[in-house]
Amino acid sequence: MKNVLVIGSTGQIGSELTMKLRGIYGNGNVVAGYIKGAEPKGELLESGPAELVDITNAEQIADAVRKYKVDTIYNLAALLSAVAEAKPLLAWKIGIGGLMNTLEVARELKCAVFTPSSIGSFGPNAPKDGTPQDTIQQPRTMYGVTKVSGELLSNYYALKFGVDTRSVRFPGLISYVTPPGGGTTDYAVDIYYSAVKGEKFICPIQKGTFMDMMYMPDALRAAIEIMEANPERLVHRNSFNIASMSFDPEIIYNKIKEYVPDFEMVYEVDPLRQGIAESWPNRLDDTCARMEWDWKPEYDLDAMTRDMLEKLRIKFGK
Ligand code: SER
Repeated sequence: MKNVLVIGSTGQIGSELTMKLRGIYGNGNVVAGYIKGAEPKGELLESGPAELVDITNAEQIADAVRKYKVDTIYNLAALLSAVAEAKPLLAWKIGIGGLMNTLEVARELKCAVFTPSSIGSFGPNAPKDGTPQDTIQQPRTMYGVTKVSGELLSNYYALKFGVDTRSVRFPGLISYVTPPGGGTTDYAVDIYYSAVKGEKFICPIQKGTFMDMMYMPDALRAAIEIMEANPERLVHRNSFNIASMSFDPEIIYNKIKEYVPDFEMVYEVDPLRQGIAESWPNRLDDTCARMEWDWKPEYDLDAMTRDMLEKLRIKFGK
């Protein structure tokens, strides 16, 4: 039995992960941590406890951990890559200041901590295809700098203080529930919305630009399975490469066209996002996650596309 605190419970990942964790560990045992201006609503609010937990405020984290006897923290507070380029100081304050607060509370009050890393933790010097688990990580974005620093800090707390930190490097995450905000991989979410609404899609990423992507149900399962994994089998901790599919805009567009034949796409490349995308890997090698905790994705591009279109048609009554 776990008592869980989700920091950032109303965000792109948190809104779905909190509900999934409640389904597994019990509604009353999973606390939805939120910040002012992003309060939980609807099912998220009604199905279990919620607390104001701003990651930049260590006391708020500690108070929630004590009040609910939390033993596991999911730290999902972050700015996505394009926003982090516009607000680098805030990205550092949340990504690293916030992580430090979380790790200190975890050390004192004995919690396990999950903090996602990303394909953005790699930079242009890493091998692009089949990017290995252990390789050069020299990102040139503030998002990537916070992610690779977060990996190192989390490993330090595990080695030095025995804090049970674990994590995965998420690909771009695709979901029909809560839209992402300001990420480089967001186009692969937006394209489905346009297809279902019958709108022409204006693609900000150039054709031929490959990035790892993943359907949200696989990502949620990864976040839970890594925290449930047998620690004796873990050679790595922060963070594991995980992968399920890699595509460029043409491939996802043509896949959607199989189901929406009159769907149209034009390119209007955003230089900021394009530059970020070009500095990231094309496709990660996730062998270590498969070997050390039996990671295995369930959705490929076709299965994801069918499910996304079906769920968005229901959402928009189309
Ligand atoms: N989805 C993230 C972004 O694009 C990458 O992890 O910023």
